[in-house]
Amino acid sequence: MRCAPLAHYTELLLAVTNVLAFASNDDVSSLVIRNDGLNDTLSCTRRGIQELDNIHWNPAKTYSYRNASRVVPGPWAIDHDISRMVSGLSIEEKVGQMLQIQVGLVVGCDGKLNETAVEYWIDKWKVGSFLETPGNHKGEFSWYSPKNFADITDSVQRIALKTGPKLPIIWGLDSVRGANYVKGGTIFPSGTSAAATFNQHLAYEAGRIAAKDTRAAGVHWSFAPVLDLAVNKLWSRTYENFGEDPYLSSQMASASVKGFQGDYRNDRSRIAACLKHFIGYGYPFDGSDRANRHIATHELLEYYVPPFQAAIDARSATAMESYGVVNSEAVMLSHYYLTQLLRKQLGFKGMLVTDWAEINLQADIYTTARNRTHATQIALQRTSADMSMVADDKSFMQATVDLVKQGAISESRLDESVARILQLKKDLGLFGSPFADKALTETVGSLQDVEVARYTARESITLLKNDNGILPLSKSDKVMFIGPTLNSTRYMGGGWNVHWNGPNDSEGDAVYQGFGDTVIKGAKQVTGTVPEYLEAVDINGTGFVDIDKVIAAAKNADKVVIGLGEHSYAENLGNIDGLMLPKKQLDLVSVLASKAKKSIAVVLIEGRPRRLGDVPKLADAILDAYLPGAYGGLPIAEILYGRVNPSGRLPITYPATEAQASSTIWQSSYMDYHPQWPFGFGLGYSKLVYSNVTLSSSTLKMGSPITAKLTVTNYGPYPQKESVQLYTHQHYRVGYAPDLYRLRAFEKVDLDVGKSKTISLKLAAEDLAFWDRYLRKRIEPAPVTVAINPFTQKNIHAVVKLMADSEYVLEEADY
Ligand SMILES: *[C@@H]1O[C@H](CO)[C@@H](O)[C@H](O)[C@H]1NC(C)=O
Ligand SMILES: *[C@@H]1O[C@H](CO)[C@@H](O)[C@H](O)[C@H]1NC(C)=O
Ligand SMILES: *[C@@H]1O[C@H](CO)[C@@H](O)[C@H](O)[C@H]1NC(C)=O
Ligand SMILES: *[C@@H]1O[C@H](CO)[C@@H](O)[C@H](O)[C@H]1NC(C)=O
Ligand SMILES: *[C@@H]1O[C@H](CO)[C@@H](O)[C@H](O)[C@H]1NC(C)=O
Ligand SMILES: *[C@@H]1O[C@H](CO)[C@@H](O)[C@H](O)[C@H]1NC(C)=O
Ligand SMILES: *[C@@H]1O[C@H](CO)[C@@H](O)[C@H](O)[C@H]1NC(C)=O
Ligand SMILES: *[C@@H]1O[C@H](CO)[C@@H](O)[C@H](O)[C@H]1NC(C)=O
Repeated sequence: MRCAPLAHYTELLLAVTNVLAFASNDDVSSLVIRNDGLNDTLSCTRRGIQELDNIHWNPAKTYSYRNASRVVPGPWAIDHDISRMVSGLSIEEKVGQMLQIQVGLVVGCDGKLNETAVEYWIDKWKVGSFLETPGNHKGEFSWYSPKNFADITDSVQRIALKTGPKLPIIWGLDSVRGANYVKGGTIFPSGTSAAATFNQHLAYEAGRIAAKDTRAAGVHWSFAPVLDLAVNKLWSRTYENFGEDPYLSSQMASASVKGFQGDYRNDRSRIAACLKHFIGYGYPFDGSDRANRHIATHELLEYYVPPFQAAIDARSATAMESYGVVNSEAVMLSHYYLTQLLRKQLGFKGMLVTDWAEINLQADIYTTARNRTHATQIALQRTSADMSMVADDKSFMQATVDLVKQGAISESRLDESVARILQLKKDLGLFGSPFADKALTETVGSLQDVEVARYTARESITLLKNDNGILPLSKSDKVMFIGPTLNSTRYMGGGWNVHWNGPNDSEGDAVYQGFGDTVIKGAKQVTGTVPEYLEAVDINGTGFVDIDKVIAAAKNADKVVIGLGEHSYAENLGNIDGLMLPKKQLDLVSVLASKAKKSIAVVLIEGRPRRLGDVPKLADAILDAYLPGAYGGLPIAEILYGRVNPSGRLPITYPATEAQASSTIWQSSYMDYHPQWPFGFGLGYSKLVYSNVTLSSSTLKMGSPITAKLTVTNYGPYPQKESVQLYTHQHYRVGYAPDLYRLRAFEKVDLDVGKSKTISLKLAAEDLAFWDRYLRKRIEPAPVTVAINPFTQKNIHAVVKLMADSEYVLEEADY
């Protein structure tokens, strides 16, 4: 999700952006909805001043909730009343349930819901689902307060209940990092940060709070969590995912689904999750968004599938297929990916939605079908797709009804999908009351939630270098803060917050209206004094600003903190042709290092690991804050000043060269792995010592897991959280190059100064099983090194003998 490829982007902008609010009624505006043909374009010409959707309310500071982290059974069986309901629908009504359109089509040029247009779509085209927030692509008005959002969704429901088939609407929204499109909703650090915490509970909490704030807007379904592996680091969607590792990502996937859904069949503060994007989206061969992926099927099963399997096992109610082609086959038209693999092999029984316009794009972009009708036919025949996110027209309705009437698609194919859709609506309570719960509104943006977002940032920020004890800063140090990312909430926010592409430059930070705090503001809170700050270079590195003044100020300071990073972007608008940060940003560090000769700490605020040139040599300390969200300023300052001891660990490999753009911890072990920083790496301010590593057995057999036990001691001087990570490396594997390392278990522990903790981590022979090219899951009986935090704590490892029959097949997959 979302937005058509770049070629269509301008057209989409025209269609979508003109739904903003206007202050006065003398604006020039016109709305065109063509009722016939395949292209319903809503276009307004507009002039005028936009009105902010101001929020004046005092959310409850705290609230109580049901902490259901158990897996809720279902939604697998279709209830009898749902089957009866399906058989009572006409063909058009059935197809309408499978049709999802974006709300921009029913919002007028005045920024208000056009009830006539809603009636038109539901009466004439039987639409059963809406998505998104009005005018997502641009404009402050698109960020609706929960109350205004709920007014819109409630009005649509009221019309739905008395129009056409009189069935409630299910509404989907990209609440990927908190309810990022619900104004005042707590915006969380992005997926990479959640993974960097190595703390699943925080992924659960982000899901739970996103669900509540989303439901407050009358929306029942989030297109999240995002479970693609971030393999090619050029990829603009790197930040949305839980890193590059199958195991870490699986742990986060499971927690996130449980957080979103809770006991969603009973608890009306929870919503349906959506595992996405199925599958193989994270390895675009040239790094550009939606580029072709070349991933052999056994590698797909080995690395890319596990997070999705974990989300299915956690009972994700819905799934979304992935854009484009994998191994030259269009995912949207693939029987293998969407029926054989997703449904039969992995056991997904929920509702499957397409990504934005993906059926039509088969004909329009990928040229994998002759025309749109043809694409619809193939998609319905070969795959188990249930709902088409069309999202801008009714082409799916017209094509599908024709196909059923011609006998190309059976009515029972529709019944299957419609049953899954209506069952989901029932499970979410929409047949009881489809309206927003006003009581939830008061909890949106509560201090309790903001603290969880800050806490997630605190546990994610990763200290990558700290020489000469430059960090933590002391309150008595005279510190000069420099660089574009230190006085900005919007760069910490990045994409998928406020708007799809993040706030734009002309909106600046004002768009947050105080929801958030910059690093400068955080430093002021921590030190009680106003920090000295200069921007020095713009975010895109176009040129220096007052560089002589910056050098003089740095000379005059004891220590210098420089904030570098990326501007906000989403999807294809974030495509880059190289990993290096803008040159002038890097030059800033070298100029200050040579001219001011002061200790330098660099703070990175970036959605993907951008290359740093000489900065790792020139800077004494480097902190990677990823995209910590608009509330990231205080946590960063707390870490700089030692109020919080950093405990984040890299959930990705940080490349040193362009050639390493797709290096991962699980690449073949004979390959060079000398990135800038390895996966799992991160420092703290305390001295930790690992000792007494023991394995419960030196042989590993199927059905008899062993336990690795070790003791971690904190020799101070600060309390320290530590992610204890257990990896394996197999010495050889006949015919298949073994992985460098695979993460198999981790646990995050909290250690006071002077305290030791003994940690036990389990390892099973089955963990070592791998998929071969004949799609058989086997175990190689060769020795295995068990390593604890191999890149931070040297030489903590032991060797086990793996006993297995190499011919024994644990699982065999069908094509
Ligand atoms: C839809 O209509 C607009 C406005 O007439 C036109 O520019 C665009 O090319 C059409 N798009 C398609 C996919 O037909
Ligand atoms: C919620 O439940 C999980 C799992 O039982 C537990 O770890 C967590 O501490 C609970 N959270 C709260 C706020 O009770
Ligand atoms: C509402 O939509 C209808 C088409 O369904 C259109 O005729 C009408 O002009 C629209 N009204 C406004 C105020 O945009
Ligand atoms: C940025 O957003 C503002 C407010 O919505 C809008 O008026 C302006 O055109 C946008 N600027 C750019 C460059 O997109
Ligand atoms: C679309 O493709 C189908 C299947 O190949 C064909 O039968 C149909 O005539 C085509 N429609 C148009 C409008 O070309
Ligand atoms: C930080 O940015 C704001 C605008 O967002 C500006 O008003 C303020 O002067 C800046 N602070 C400093 C210290 O430059
Ligand atoms: C930075 O570059 C991006 C992408 O080209 C652009 O959208 C943005 O407006 C630029 N920002 C500044 C401050 O130059
Ligand atoms: C390690 O084990 C030895 C022997 O059992 C014990 O004396 C020592 O205290 C242990 N060390 C730690 C740090 O627990």
